Amino acid sequence: MKGKRVLSGIQPSGGLHLGNYFGMMKPMIELQEENELFCFLVNYHALTSVTDAEKLSRDTLEAAADFLALGLDPEKAVFWVQSDIPEVTELTWILSNVTGVGLLERAHSYKDKIAKGMSPTHGLLSYPVLMTSDILLFGGEVVPVGKDQKQHLEISRDIASRFNSTYGETFILPEPLISEDTGLIPGIDGQKMSKSYNNTLEIFCNRDELQKKVLSIVTDTTSVDQPKDPDSSTLYNIHAFFLDEAGKKELRLRYQSPGLRYGDAKKELADIIWDYFQPFREKRKELAKNKGTVIEILNNGAEKARVVAADYLEKARQNTGLIYR
Ligand code: TRP
Repeated sequence: MKGKRVLSGIQPSGGLHLGNYFGMMKPMIELQEENELFCFLVNYHALTSVTDAEKLSRDTLEAAADFLALGLDPEKAVFWVQSDIPEVTELTWILSNVTGVGLLERAHSYKDKIAKGMSPTHGLLSYPVLMTSDILLFGGEVVPVGKDQKQHLEISRDIASRFNSTYGETFILPEPLISEDTGLIPGIDGQKMSKSYNNTLEIFCNRDELQKKVLSIVTDTTSVDQPKDPDSSTLYNIHAFFLDEAGKKELRLRYQSPGLRYGDAKKELADIIWDYFQPFREKRKELAKNKGTVIEILNNGAEKARVVAADYLEKARQNTGLIYR
């Protein structure tokens, strides 16, 4: 068996964006070479915010096509849609009974969503329990996630160890893998990039949309002939994700010297983003035309993942006394 079991999920809500790419997709695609990769689209989680059925089902297939176009290889990775393995909801219920409400109420993500006006449903509160079930049901050892998911992973470890100490060693405690050096890519308004903030740069939008969005990245009012601070600049901080060390140094210098026009820097950035994803566009188009291929890949993935899930669920049922015969 190769490497570790690396596992992560992503919400298929709308076109996937640069935040998804740098936080989770890119690390996952890189890790598939040396590890046993489990990767899934969390459509049960998406139900906490999406109520349009047609949109959710369409977005699920599109997210799958995005991931495959970017290089997730179904020969190397197990790739499926969460709801194809409904066992995950059974384990969620079992885990709910070793999860304190206080733990869930302290989750930043929950509190932020409530503060933004989302209604505090039970689904939203128990989001991290479902996420824990996603991880434990497949024996995930390493979980690559964006920085914003760090606390959720801590909650998962808490729930897993509570279960193990109550019912005996059953589940592996997952380790988060968070790329500290890259952190979170900001959205075009400077906040965390997120679909729900409507501030994303999509991976596969068309050239005009990309240009329009990049041109609308917030900048301050420092004039052309004044030096600018790269660190507090949203534009610089997005740009930096596409540069190597030397490129970053050079761009920093341009910011710190008089003469840089934000408008020019934006045009350069739009070109860079466009070129960066160019190699994947052909494959993406092809997959859009061949939904059957995408569905077949997801079916195969679910079949493989289900075998692993069945073993862990059986153990959990056994250890909790749900099996009585
Ligand atoms: N909550 C994660 C996010 O929004 C998505 C997710 C669901 C996940 N289940 C998971 C991530 C299991 C890692 C492991 O990014």
